[in-house]
This record gives sequence, C-alpha cells and structure tokens, in this order.
Amino acid sequence: NGQWRGVIEEYRDRLPVTGRTPVVTLGEGGTPLVAAETLSERTGCEVYLKVEGANPTGSFKDRGMTMAISHAKEAGAQAVICASTGNTSASAAAYAVRAGMVCAVLVPQGKIALGKMGQALVHGSRILQVDGNFDDCLTLARGLSEKYPVALVNSVNPARIEGQKTAAFEVVDRLGDAPDIHVLPVGNAGNITAYWKGYGEYAAGGPATRTPRMWGFQASGAAPIVRGEPVKDPTTIATAIRIGNPASWTQAEAARDASDGFIDEVTDRQILSAYRLLASREGVFVEPASAASVAGLLKTAEAGGLDRGQRVVCTVTGNGLKDPDWAVAGAPRPIVVPVDADAAAERLGLA
Ligand code: F0G
Repeated sequence: NGQWRGVIEEYRDRLPVTGRTPVVTLGEGGTPLVAAETLSERTGCEVYLKVEGANPTGSFKDRGMTMAISHAKEAGAQAVICASTGNTSASAAAYAVRAGMVCAVLVPQGKIALGKMGQALVHGSRILQVDGNFDDCLTLARGLSEKYPVALVNSVNPARIEGQKTAAFEVVDRLGDAPDIHVLPVGNAGNITAYWKGYGEYAAGGPATRTPRMWGFQASGAAPIVRGEPVKDPTTIATAIRIGNPASWTQAEAARDASDGFIDEVTDRQILSAYRLLASREGVFVEPASAASVAGLLKTAEAGGLDRGQRVVCTVTGNGLKDPDWAVAGAPRPIVVPVDADAAAERLGLA
C-alpha cells in the first residue's frame, strides 16, 4: 500500500541480510529532506536538512539499530548492551523490546538528556549510570560483551554502520545525485563513516555519479579529531557528542581525506545560535548536538570557505523534544490570562 517498510526492506539488496534474518523494525528511515530557505539565503547555496529526528525513537540511531538487533536476534542473542550519551540507548531499548531481548545500557552519570533517560526507562532497559564519561562507558560495554553472553550494539558493531548508510541512499534517491557537500555533527564518528560508505556504494556503478565532500563538526570542548589527540575530560552542552576518544576516529579521517572534506569545531555558543535559528526560522526543532552541522556550515560560510551555488545537505540527527531544557532556558515565560477573549486579544496584541 505504499507505506515505508523500514530501511531493511527498502534497501534489502544493499544490506547484509538473508531470507533467514528476522527483521526487527519500527519503520525507521524515509525521513524528510527539507529545503532550508533561510540557510540557503544566508549562504547563497541550495541547503537541505535531513531531519533524522523523525525516526521512530527520535534519532538516526534507529537506522543502525534495526540492523544490529536483527543480526543479534539471528545469532540467537538474548541480551544486548551499549554505551551511550542517550540516543543509542533509547534506540537499543525500543528495538530490544521488539525483539524480545533484554537491553542493558551504560550512560555517563548526570550527563544525558532527561527525554533519552525516559525512553530507556519506559522501554524497560537495565540502566547503569557510570561514574565516568562516554568513553569509559564504551570501554566497559566492550569488556562486558567480550566476557559475557551479551551482544554489543554500539557503532563499533559493523551492522550499525550498514544500517546508517541508508541515509545517504535516501538523499541521492531524493535529489537524483549526491550533493556537493554533506555536513554532519561528529561524536563517536560512526555516522560520518556510515554516510561515506553509503555515498561510496551508490557512486560505484550508480545511481549516483559522484560522492560529496564530507564536512564534520565537533563541539569545541570535545574535539579530539580537530586537536589530533584524545580529550580527557570532554565538555559541551551538546551532551550527545560529549566524546573524547571516538571509536571510528580512523574511519572519520579516511572519509574526510578521501572526500576532500574537513573536520572542524564549533563552540557551544555557535551550536545554540544554530539551534535557535533552526527552530525559529526553519521550523525544525532539533537537539543541540544536531545543530552542530548547521553551526559549522554557517561558520564556514562566514569565513569565506563555502562557494555559492552549491548543493548542501546538513543532517540534523536528533529530535528537539529529547532535550527541551535548552528551548525553555532564557525564553520569556508565557503570560497567564483569564478565560476572556478581550483580555487574550489584548495580550496577543490583536486588540
Ligand atoms: N547527534 C546526535 C543527536 C547523537 O546522539 C550522536 C551520537 C551524534 C550526533 C554523533 O554521531 O557518534 O555517529 O558521530 N550519539 C551516540 C549515542 C554517541 O550514544 O547516542 P556519531
């Protein structure tokens, strides 16, 4: 009936699945590619937003999780584990429920957004708050998966990258070819790796004729790839990308170099400014980490590093509802009125 079937069924011939793979899906993918008028005006380019907050659990992680959990189920796993800054755990928790598996999550204590914690809780996962950062959580999760019968579903699991590469397929399917530039926030660096793989596969014998330049942006306080060395105590308000030693570091550098792109940093101030611009001018509510891509695009354009007339896609990775504190903070409190049309009209400036 034309309904989107999830990334495994939509791209089955390009994914490592067989007829025996149990497809665990929530209908992920098929997300909007939104023309961004204000960003296009400001940059003189044709800018689109790939709105990944529209996925079932509100982030791009669902594309990878449908693959990782389907593989784990095919292998007979009864439990999965992940380290997370919040979105991976939200996604793993939901897909584990679909698969009838136990889900364990390791998160940095006090450093994940409330909405994401709520998702892991309501889906019944077993949550451990680790007295450390994301990098510590990942080390712990890897160790546990090596010693105990529990499948690791972080992006170091190749199935995750396979699933996430479908976002690049969707961009090409919509635009007719790859864009000139693709811009992403970078944390653990799985997603930039996945997009590059997807674009590469689509350019090898079609349907794409080329690959884009890959531009990645880390938060200034958590920018190990930019610095060229791990960051011991990463800090940023964009908690999703608060990562000091990315697992896919090498692959991200490979994508950067092979595509003639770059990986740069944006400050928290630039991130919040892009966050507010996306919401107030484009009508797209994202979580702060997602705005790093747009912040980076604007920073580069303002510095003269972006030629006009190019076609640019910015991935905005997660839904703003996950971390609404930043929407409320600093905004004026709504006015209270009686149940009275004249009073309401006056307050609205209509009368
Ligand atoms: N944006 C959001 C909203 C994220 O949640 C993440 C990563 C990224 C960007 C960066 O993507 O790690 O592939 O470079 N979140 C992971 C998590 C680390 O645990 O949810 P990446």
